[in-house]
Amino acid sequence: MTETNVLARQTNDLDAFWLPFTPNRAFKRAPRLISRAKDMHYFTPDGRAVLDGLAGLWCSNAGHNRDPIVAAIQRQAAELDFSPAFQFAHPKAFALASRIAALAPGDLNRVFFCNSGSEACDTALKIALAYHHVRGEGSRTRLIGRERGYHGVGFGGISVGGMVNNRKFFGTLLAGVDHLPATYSREHQAFTKGEPEWGAHLADELERIVALHDASTIAAVIVEPMAGSTGVLPPPKGYLQRLRAICDKYGILLIFDEVITGFGRLGHAFAAERYGVTPDLICFAKGVTSGAVPMGGVIARESLYDAFMRGPEHVIELFHGYTYSAHPLACAAGLAALDLYRDEDLFERAKKLEPVMADAAMTLKGLPGVLDVRTVGVAAGIDLASRPGAVGLRAYEAMERAFHDEDLVIRVGGETIAIAPPLIVSEAQIAEIFEKLARVIRAVN
Ligand SMILES: Cc1ncc(COP(=O)(O)O)c(C=O)c1O
Repeated sequence: MTETNVLARQTNDLDAFWLPFTPNRAFKRAPRLISRAKDMHYFTPDGRAVLDGLAGLWCSNAGHNRDPIVAAIQRQAAELDFSPAFQFAHPKAFALASRIAALAPGDLNRVFFCNSGSEACDTALKIALAYHHVRGEGSRTRLIGRERGYHGVGFGGISVGGMVNNRKFFGTLLAGVDHLPATYSREHQAFTKGEPEWGAHLADELERIVALHDASTIAAVIVEPMAGSTGVLPPPKGYLQRLRAICDKYGILLIFDEVITGFGRLGHAFAAERYGVTPDLICFAKGVTSGAVPMGGVIARESLYDAFMRGPEHVIELFHGYTYSAHPLACAAGLAALDLYRDEDLFERAKKLEPVMADAAMTLKGLPGVLDVRTVGVAAGIDLASRPGAVGLRAYEAMERAFHDEDLVIRVGGETIAIAPPLIVSEAQIAEIFEKLARVIRAVN
């Protein structure tokens, strides 16, 4: 081989990159490559426009490569590339925290920054534990998650999370964790638009857990108001309210993981607002920068923050943080994204699109192999029947076909397809997504 050929082979080599949450061998046999994006579309290296049915990974809520966000990042990169958030700070960190606090419900107005949803969840769990500790209730160490929950991939997140493949390979996880049951029942909820009628009573399982462990050992409960990654599972009507009431009764903190539901997915800044339930801590990430720069964070109630503000003033109150907490590029992107959400009224737009999404998604009912369709906000989950002995293969093929044959990006997990386009999606594009998907589902039957 000539030297040029060796170089060409190395630069085009697919071997080195170990892709996350991807079957690497199957991917490298038929790669799905994306090299550019604008608004609702990706573009492949050979110039094919591919419709984004999942807002990136539930994050590009304002669409891709929006000019104001691009310009804000470019300006920021030229002005201040980095400044530490430990003992120092830059002005945009305060500006963004204030903007996020203004969007959050109730007295949730103290914002701790990190860089991802996983870090946000681990941060929230640590704040909950430390909160009880500083108040002299250090016996409250138990964390309660939920089956089918997804709280990222840190050890805290997978411990309270409830997805077996994310847990089983990784040892003993955190000690002292218990789980509520999942809220999904196909028998009682199949083909529901919005929040199902059945299932509020499942929140009462928290009473059973309290009876088993005693409230004095329990620090916090963490749930996604709508579980996105495990297949778009909206909360049963009244479920979150009951969870809040039981947490209040026993002094247990309630954490909403709004990494997917934050910033408009359910027609509000946060799902907490849609459901009229105020948690003690909210985890956010993804949509805060419309996916343009990694960022996550936790919003805490003022009283919770105040509990830490004691002791000598020169001593750090919370021994936690990341080198890239409140990174200047992320803050600039976040401010520009929040401006876009406001100026284009995208949360309200999501609310108006909800029935359009729901009707379009339900057109899949009755197609071969479709076991359930669920919708809420600008999101839909579609369960397919597995082929005998090959769980997940049908959905995987659906994703491949969608990309290669229909120019559509969808997300699959197990045998579930998730659809959650950017909130700028037009009604015609919603119809296009589900027409393409119907053809794909027929083709993989
Ligand atoms: C509810 C929820 N929490 C946490 C995470 C983890 O976020 P990240 O991948 O940014 O770490 C996700 C990612 O999809 C999520 O959906």
